[in-house]
Amino acid sequence: MRDSGYSIALFPGDGTGPEVVREGEKVLGALAEGDAAPWHLTTYRGGGQYYLASGREWDPEGAAAARSSDAVMVGAVGWPGATLPNGDIAGRALILGMREGLDLYANVRPCKLYPGVLHRVSGEYRTVWSPKNVDLLIVRENTEGLYTPAHGRLKRADETEVAIDTRVITRKGSERVIRYAFELARHRPTGAPEDGKKRVTCVDKSNVLEGCRFFRETFDRVAQEYPEIERDYAYVDAFTQWLVRNPEHYDVVVATNMMGDIITDLAAVLQGGMGFAAGGNIGTDHAMFEPVHGSAPKYAGKNQVNPFATFFAVEQMLRWLGERHADARLVRQAERLDRAISGVLASGTARTYDQGGTVTTSAAGDRVASAVRGEAR
Ligand code: IPM
Ligand code: MN
Repeated sequence: MRDSGYSIALFPGDGTGPEVVREGEKVLGALAEGDAAPWHLTTYRGGGQYYLASGREWDPEGAAAARSSDAVMVGAVGWPGATLPNGDIAGRALILGMREGLDLYANVRPCKLYPGVLHRVSGEYRTVWSPKNVDLLIVRENTEGLYTPAHGRLKRADETEVAIDTRVITRKGSERVIRYAFELARHRPTGAPEDGKKRVTCVDKSNVLEGCRFFRETFDRVAQEYPEIERDYAYVDAFTQWLVRNPEHYDVVVATNMMGDIITDLAAVLQGGMGFAAGGNIGTDHAMFEPVHGSAPKYAGKNQVNPFATFFAVEQMLRWLGERHADARLVRQAERLDRAISGVLASGTARTYDQGGTVTTSAAGDRVASAVRGEAR
């Protein structure tokens, strides 16, 4: 616990990023009222739009702050036409760059369906999965795999002939993310919704890929340290159908980088859509939290997008800070925020367009902020 408080660096980024981060700040403000706020927020510029204006991906102060702050929050990056000379998206530094540069090796993406949240399937808003069946954590390896910057093109006379991405799976990279997944399973209050069992599922393609065989071997070795936790396996292709048909089987899931990227978007459908999906990029000394949805340029400036993913990212950040610094105040604030979010979602009074509603981004933020005020501190 630290009396001087915690520094949080905010990078609203592109498109709708600033709109959702603003609501996140509003909710943090409501949590801090009436009490000395144990955190202070500083906003930094960066992203594709900033790049077009300045020629830099982020301001140098922001780059330094990402390293020196206690936690980082990113809204979204990516803007049409904002591309680096090498073809990467401008703003890459904020997401992929931070994951690499701060060694944020575990991307923890909770997939929980809250009562009152609808599923948009075939253009209709309905209840498909049940909140009592969807409560899992997906842990995605975040620094290597197919995202390893070992790639390139072979050209002949300026014409691309071959493009290559190399998938790198290391012992260290696998071991630490798998151990992180087992630790999360150990500390989660409940296990899988199906049977209450603590279970870690290794999602891979070890029937075909060597890197996945190595990942699964590492999984088996680490699992021996956790005899109380059930080991479970799924090939990634089969996993996609089991997740949809039988989400209650899953407690904690661990996967390599690209596979984790894909299955977490699928999982987002079960929690109501990308508007509810948040992720914590966790390393040993740093962490960055973000709504998983992108910058949605089409909706930028319209005050329409769903800010709940950002509220969940705020919750995850407060919990992580509280646990890391053994500061019960932050864990209590995270729990308070979760109660406020649950209440608002259950009431169905903050449905944005992606839920078939007409509530604006800022009005949804107002509802959650006022619900926070109504919850005991
Ligand atoms: C995610 C996103 C990023 C990724 C993009 C924006 C680089 O899809 O966080 O899942 O591929 O990891
Ligand atoms: Mn993704």
